[in-house]
Amino acid sequence: MKLAGHHIFITGGAKGIGEAIVRDCVAEGANVSYVDIDSASGEKLANELGAKVKFVKASVASFEELSKAFTEVVAAFGEVTGVVNNAGVNSHADPVTMTDKEWDDFFAVDMKPVWLTAKLALPAMRKAGKGSIVNICSIHGRLTYPGFFPYGAAKSAVLGLTRNLALDEGKHEIRVNAVSPGYILTDLTKGWLNAEAGRTERANSIQPMGRMGQPEEVAKVVTFLLSDKSTYVSGSDWAVDGGLGARSA
Ligand SMILES: NC(=O)c1ccc[n+]([C@@H]2O[C@H](COP(=O)([O-])OP(=O)(O)OC[C@H]3O[C@@H](n4cnc5c(N)ncnc54)[C@H](O)[C@@H]3O)[C@@H](O)[C@H]2O)c1
Repeated sequence: MKLAGHHIFITGGAKGIGEAIVRDCVAEGANVSYVDIDSASGEKLANELGAKVKFVKASVASFEELSKAFTEVVAAFGEVTGVVNNAGVNSHADPVTMTDKEWDDFFAVDMKPVWLTAKLALPAMRKAGKGSIVNICSIHGRLTYPGFFPYGAAKSAVLGLTRNLALDEGKHEIRVNAVSPGYILTDLTKGWLNAEAGRTERANSIQPMGRMGQPEEVAKVVTFLLSDKSTYVSGSDWAVDGGLGARSA
């Protein structure tokens, strides 16, 4: 088991890609803690998985809630050895009608938590001289799509933060990497696909592998990056997009 003896802290772990990461980390032997704003789904998953997991309801947009949750999970499982910044929402704003508050609220979920979780987890990781942080970015970090304003900006910023942290924390043997999914079949994607007739067929037709991905296919890459199987991998961005990022028009 790749993660025996680890304590992995995951944001947005109740559903979708986050849930698949929680499950894979448990399967790989870790103690897993996760936060989410969806307490019903978060608790259901925790009840199913038992003593190896701890769920705390918290929003990544609030440093106060996040720090309280962090203190609770450290009390339960000891210092965090790996962090996965996964919580995220889509944005389909219009640059003219979007308000200041909407802008701030969006970046508070899709970008700023990469810094907030680092602020919480790095002291113990520096002391241990070891740690791994995985930031769930997106194919939108490099190539975006009409109608996703300003999702591409937030995900590009996640890549920038990944590089900043990787360079600064490398001397402590703390590795920081991004994972960039393409189209993965979760509630987030299904909501977008179902919003317009024919969108699913069009989305499938551009996939080099002829299909979209499953959350578990992202989770397997994340657990590899969290584990000691990737001790010289840092500052990188791992595409999990079935080859879509290699495609021209
Ligand atoms: N699904 C895809 O195709 C895809 C592609 C590229 C990147 N991503 C990224 O992967 C991550 C997960 O996406 P998903 O498809 O699993 O989405 P999802 O909506 O299925 O799950 C996201 C989870 O995050 C939680 N969450 C949302 N806001 C939160 C907050 N403020 N605090 C704590 N938890 C919060 C939700 O409750 C949910 O459980 C996101 O960062 C997303 O941008 C997804």
